[in-house]
Amino acid sequence: MVDQAVSGQALALLGGSKTINDDHSSMFKWPIVTAEHEAAVLEVLRAGNMSGLDVTMKFEEEYASKLKRRYALACNTGTAAIHSGFYGLGVGVGDEVICPSMTYWASILQVYSLGATPVFAEIDPNTLCIDPNDIEHRITERTKAIVVVHYAGMPCDMDPIMAIAEKHNIPILEDCSHAHGALYKGKEIGTFGKVAAMSLMSGKSFAIGEGGILFTDDQLVYERAILFGHYARHNKLELPETKRYAGLPAGGYKYRMHQLSSAFGRVQLKLYYDQIREIDKAMNYFCDQIEDTPGLAPIRPGYPNSTRGGWYFATMKYAAEELGGLSNVRFAEAVVAEGSIANAGCNQALHTHPIFSEQDIYGHGKPTRVANLPEGATLSQPIGSLPVSEDIGRHVLALPWFKHYKPEIIDQHVLAWKKVAANYEALLPGDKPQQRVGGFSTFMRGR
Ligand SMILES: Cc1ncc(COP(=O)(O)O)c(C=O)c1O
Repeated sequence: MVDQAVSGQALALLGGSKTINDDHSSMFKWPIVTAEHEAAVLEVLRAGNMSGLDVTMKFEEEYASKLKRRYALACNTGTAAIHSGFYGLGVGVGDEVICPSMTYWASILQVYSLGATPVFAEIDPNTLCIDPNDIEHRITERTKAIVVVHYAGMPCDMDPIMAIAEKHNIPILEDCSHAHGALYKGKEIGTFGKVAAMSLMSGKSFAIGEGGILFTDDQLVYERAILFGHYARHNKLELPETKRYAGLPAGGYKYRMHQLSSAFGRVQLKLYYDQIREIDKAMNYFCDQIEDTPGLAPIRPGYPNSTRGGWYFATMKYAAEELGGLSNVRFAEAVVAEGSIANAGCNQALHTHPIFSEQDIYGHGKPTRVANLPEGATLSQPIGSLPVSEDIGRHVLALPWFKHYKPEIIDQHVLAWKKVAANYEALLPGDKPQQRVGGFSTFMRGR
């Protein structure tokens, strides 16, 4: 519905007055640092205990118990946690790992260093998560794992994915970096995969500094992950497959979490689930009001009893055809000019980068992508082969990420968005639609 109250008003981008003039930065500030966080971090700092393990192991124990997983291993980044998870699962030379193409590179790029290669799958444009119908036909005898990414807080459709994994006996690695606390049919994400791994860096919804963590119920996976990059914990190895190699990190990496992060994380774990309840309320309040606006369709889980957790990178689908073909980039610029927040696009499809087609990283004399595949095996995913993932950036907008339920403030942002939608025609001259919207690493302006 066109909003009559804002229809015909001059847009701020075109010289009109701004909808929002107040400073709303406290609505978006994240993480919320309390005195308890400060005390926990200072205690570690004053004790000179930054490189210790005691606080980190408590954090692992507490988070594993929350998710009811047997093992947790904290790492210094999410990238490291995922890397360790791949090694834990036994991913090695000549293996293939299926992964959605539209994700951040650290969902998959680490497999190269293990001698394995990615096989990219399409996403479902309605969820931005891996399309369960585009997985099975990509399985070969070399497939060692399937990565699912609960992208932008949306839980993947896990029922059909788990059925495929079970049918072919291939483990799932869940990348939960965008979706801590999200529920799929009442079950928290991070509890489905043989490995679940997540980034905990400052920009994420579970934000503790730099850090990552992996979970598993499988002792061998856990011990292999320790073997890979946690030599200081090799005295904990019990299984013959790992114990005899104790002492030096098999990966040649040092992946220990910094204890300023784990100290912060222990406090954050106590607060997080209450905080995301408020975020969920605030975001749904915004989405409920915006939903009937032409061109704008918030993405929310269609499955029962499911949530977007902390709503990291909260997104909506943008239908340019309902707004005279106006690009999402121009729409976002106009929203920002009104004093609200918007970002156009999402991660650029990975298979479009030359690292996944031609780059010879390790000097094999051929592209790394195929360097370890058997003679004659082909793997070609050129530009054009995954059209949904390649094009999706033009059809997505990120909305303001409210951390507090304050209807009187959220209403102002709703008004800003509606004003832009109602007056889209004024933005058409000067609009220069781009072929691809998004980036491989960063694509978000201030939230
Ligand atoms: C989907 C996804 N996976 C993995 C990572 C890697 O996490 P980190 O930056 O902590 O290494 C990120 C982070 O930015 C991410 O967005």
